Amino acid sequence: MLDDASRTRSFPALVGMTYLNTAAEGIPPTAVAEALAQYARDRQLGMDGRERHYAQWDAARELVARFYGLTADEVSICSCSSEAYNLAALALRLRPGDEVIINDLDFPAGTTPWLQDVCPATVKLWRSRSGALRVEDLAPMLGPRTRLVTASLVSYYNGFLLPLPQVVETLRRHSPALLALDVTQALGRVPLDLDGVDLIVSSTHKWILASHGGGLVGVPRAREREWTVPAGGWFNLQDSLIVGPERFERAVSRPGAAGFTVGMPNFPAVYAIRAALEYLSGIGVAAIDAAARPLVVACLEGLARLPVELLTPREERSFAGIIAFRHPRMDAIQRHLRAANIHVMAHAGRLRVSIHGYNTTNDVALFLQKLEEALRLVGSG
Ligand SMILES: Cc1ncc(COP(=O)(O)O)c(C=O)c1O
Repeated sequence: MLDDASRTRSFPALVGMTYLNTAAEGIPPTAVAEALAQYARDRQLGMDGRERHYAQWDAARELVARFYGLTADEVSICSCSSEAYNLAALALRLRPGDEVIINDLDFPAGTTPWLQDVCPATVKLWRSRSGALRVEDLAPMLGPRTRLVTASLVSYYNGFLLPLPQVVETLRRHSPALLALDVTQALGRVPLDLDGVDLIVSSTHKWILASHGGGLVGVPRAREREWTVPAGGWFNLQDSLIVGPERFERAVSRPGAAGFTVGMPNFPAVYAIRAALEYLSGIGVAAIDAAARPLVVACLEGLARLPVELLTPREERSFAGIIAFRHPRMDAIQRHLRAANIHVMAHAGRLRVSIHGYNTTNDVALFLQKLEEALRLVGSG
């Protein structure tokens, strides 16, 4: 894992800063800045630069595939998670009577495509209890009309880690539904086993420490027919139909992940994704988790002793990198923390702390100390 020297070398911005907000924005390692500079140089070659851009594209997809447990042909890169979900909604070709299950711990990217008035499906809400989603609550919601269950592996709201194997097993037992999983708040932070997931989606500017403008899509080969996106474009279409005599007669999409990149890839993001995933592979996600988990536990234990309302369930098996809590004077607390150069998220009625491999025991200790100070200053109301 990182020591003081390698941390300073790879993350000079972290020196003197207590950064506990990776769930909003990761701090990229210097390798990512170098990759973006490389993109700028390759871009100077005009169209000759494309060969280099595509080499990065291939390398990035290989890496994403390794992280997702798929092959490179089963992954693609679009511009953000929201785009991936909207394309997924097109692919499903939902009809009246179809059902989609969303949940109240999920980020809007995965819940809102089905809430638009053009979506003919009935949406059912899987509600959390005490911050946790329970499979026993999911089971009775499933049936022959369920077409999709969509969820985040780690909740952006409170960091709850979904019990994925139980969800997959329950879903298969009670319905023919597909499972779409947003791993944005998990990828690069917790080891993944995505067996049984039918569509995998991730943003790129958080725990994987890359840039904005990426959406990592994974579709296992066995599901590529179900996830064939009927969108206009060119990159997503069968080649022969773009240049051949039939090009003004019909458009035929490439099946599976390839259909989720509709136009020219966002190459700057692709360079950054390649560099960031290479960096994380060098450290190892298991090593990151092993180093960061004790900090999460210490932070939770510290918070449990303070007069705040914890929103993260205190069940070790559902810990990832995010802890959330509420306090009526959240904005004043946030100001006090920022005055000490401590960065956390204050949004959606809660404060959110996120802990990555580049965080240290000092970060957690300082955060708890300054939080306690802030709580004394603001009182309880
Ligand atoms: C779980 C999750 N998915 C997706 C996103 C971002 O979506 P997009 O890439 O469309 O901006 C976030 C951002 O906070 C998130 O927490």
